Amino acid sequence: MLEFQEVSFQYETGDGDHEALSPLSVTLREGERVAVLGSNGAGKSTFFLLANGVLRPHSGTIRLDGEPIGRRSRDLLRLRRAVGLVFQDPDVQFLAGTVEEEISFGPMNLGLPPDEIRRRVDAAIECLGLDGYRERGPQELSGGEKGRVAIADVLAMEPRFLLLDEPASSLDPAGRALLEQTLGVLHEKGMALAVATHDVDFAWRWADRALVFHQGRLERDAAPAEVFADTALLARCGLEQPLLWRAAAALGVSPPKHPEEFSRSACGGSRSEA
Ligand SMILES: Nc1ncnc2c1ncn2[C@@H]1O[C@H](COP(=O)(O)OP(=O)(O)O)[C@@H](O)[C@H]1O
Ligand SMILES: [Mg+2]
Repeated sequence: MLEFQEVSFQYETGDGDHEALSPLSVTLREGERVAVLGSNGAGKSTFFLLANGVLRPHSGTIRLDGEPIGRRSRDLLRLRRAVGLVFQDPDVQFLAGTVEEEISFGPMNLGLPPDEIRRRVDAAIECLGLDGYRERGPQELSGGEKGRVAIADVLAMEPRFLLLDEPASSLDPAGRALLEQTLGVLHEKGMALAVATHDVDFAWRWADRALVFHQGRLERDAAPAEVFADTALLARCGLEQPLLWRAAAALGVSPPKHPEEFSRSACGGSRSEA
């Protein structure tokens, strides 16, 4: 369990400090699929950077399994082992010469034995379909391929919580489909997943829970069905309804309560008419 208790953060800028995250209390639990929504500047990336210890809270406490994360390097290491972050821009993450070396870097830093490093690197490479890329340089890959290496990188650390910051932004439709498939595999393995995204259709299809950020504040923490039903909230936070919801509204039928419900009820309807 990863808990934020009244965590706030300000970036230090030349023209005075800028509150990027107002006191935030939220808990991520094992095995959850969480969509993190909100327009640009809402605080999504700041939330993720705090959650894996890249940034330190200005006030408040982050707890992992009930234990507070303090300032000791031991605490930070504990947080970084448990919480993996895939950055929005994969380039900032890359350190090594080849894809294989790049993915080995994290597990090597954890001081794992060579056999275990190999096992983890092979598993991450297989999971992201990167077998043909082992000897390539990460910098010379396409945007979508880089995105996959960035995920494999973090996966090889075998975090319990995996945070992905707008992972679909550099992906084409095939890349997005592969990403969603990968997220499914990781969910089956029991990993908690949080994805910052502007794709409300994906959020509706995929997430168990949605966090809506607006101007550095967590405006709503609820099931996606509840979030997307609240049109005032969506308007305030600059979000759209998923396509299925807009289609339902245009057809004058009630919105789907579950991602599969719309198609199920449509089939049921035509069958009962027959
Ligand atoms: N490095 C930075 N320096 C100063 N302000 C920043 C920095 N990064 C983000 N901010 C500001 O913090 C707020 C939250 O940004 P961010 O967490 O990046 O939002 P999001 O990821 O939702 O787009 C915004 O007002 C943004 O301008
Ligand atoms: Mg961001």
